[in-house]
Amino acid sequence: MKRIVLTVNVAACAGLVMLLCTACVCTHQPKKPGALALTPQMGWNSWNKFQGRVSEQLIREIADAMATNGMKAAGYQYVNIDDLWQAPQRDAGGNILSDPTRFPSGIKTLADYVHSRGLRLGIYSDAGGHTCGGRPGSRDHETQDAQAYASWGVDYLKYDWCDVDGLQAPAAYQKMSDALRATGRPILFSLCEWGTSKPWTWAKDVGQSWRTTGDICAKFDGLIDHGQWQEHGVLQILDLQDGLRKYAGPGHWNDPDMLEVGNGMSVNEDRAHFTLWCMLAAPLISGNDLRHMNPETLKILTDKDVIAVNQDPLGIEALKYSAHDGVEVWFKPLAHGAWAMCVLNRNKDPRPITFDWGNEKVTDDISKRETKFDTTTYRVRDLWKKQDLGTTDTPLSAEVPGHDVLAIRLNKK
Ligand code: GLA
Repeated sequence: MKRIVLTVNVAACAGLVMLLCTACVCTHQPKKPGALALTPQMGWNSWNKFQGRVSEQLIREIADAMATNGMKAAGYQYVNIDDLWQAPQRDAGGNILSDPTRFPSGIKTLADYVHSRGLRLGIYSDAGGHTCGGRPGSRDHETQDAQAYASWGVDYLKYDWCDVDGLQAPAAYQKMSDALRATGRPILFSLCEWGTSKPWTWAKDVGQSWRTTGDICAKFDGLIDHGQWQEHGVLQILDLQDGLRKYAGPGHWNDPDMLEVGNGMSVNEDRAHFTLWCMLAAPLISGNDLRHMNPETLKILTDKDVIAVNQDPLGIEALKYSAHDGVEVWFKPLAHGAWAMCVLNRNKDPRPITFDWGNEKVTDDISKRETKFDTTTYRVRDLWKKQDLGTTDTPLSAEVPGHDVLAIRLNKK
């Protein structure tokens, strides 16, 4: 009797387990790969510097540079080919092909090369019929393209939003996201929809990051007007991040576009741009020629202390605490009760600043954290100058050069 009951229970349990498994599969399929971009992704992309002048030779040389110049050691991983790697037409079977002149060995061989340098390869496509550069997009070829990328060993897909008549962004991006996941290869999915349909409100489970704005350009303050569209300077993009910080976190980042460090701004401007992107917990995708950099550019891109602010495991974006006379003070909560602080001088000329900690009350309503300067003393470290500046028991006084920042880390004493 007992035995029968046991058999019935085992059968019932097995049934229940099967039911639960089916329910799990139904509710959670397709699953977002859990371990991707738990801190903002770091790498390089060809567009900002090279636009359509991409080739397998260039990508190999960039991978060589990244692997040996200190960038890989500083955390950069992805080598990403942007638009115009594709041949002008698909083959008769609808398969996407690499441009036979500029990528004659094919993407798989290139991926093998990049992997052999201990790095990962990224690629680019578009949700529409054509990419912004006029090459075949993935519309109606999502599964075929995702399978091709996976079979080549691609690790990252940036997915653009040109030639999309009749498409809705959430559905179009979900379609490629599902196709990528169905391959079983963990491919980081970087949405490039320019913020038009507010992807921060719907893309958290679709990909690992979403562009929040139109394209960046190598200007600190200003726009380049192309008539139909504009390119934005660093400060313009910064201002467009207003209200978005609550949407970002580990595995799902706001992307204010790729870095322009080393592409023509002054050293101060490059430093400010890089620091702000670190404060914003933005993907750090360098966009300069890594083969030929001056020492200042490399120093900025590889600063471990500033990168640690970006890569902090809490993944909380900075908040703008105050703004007066073109001087802004930003705070970013960090792990272990630490904080990063950035004083940004938007003016062209230097500005003296004084910050009397005891009189300031920094409260983050979103992460529910407070600095509590009245009861907690922090050690103050200038991250760029590598100097200890005492503690929060005495006011901070400094001069911030024009178009530059003061970057501080506050560690509890
Ligand atoms: C769009 C994107 C850019 C770049 C180009 C390529 O403008 O926003 O980042 O990928 O397309 O054509």
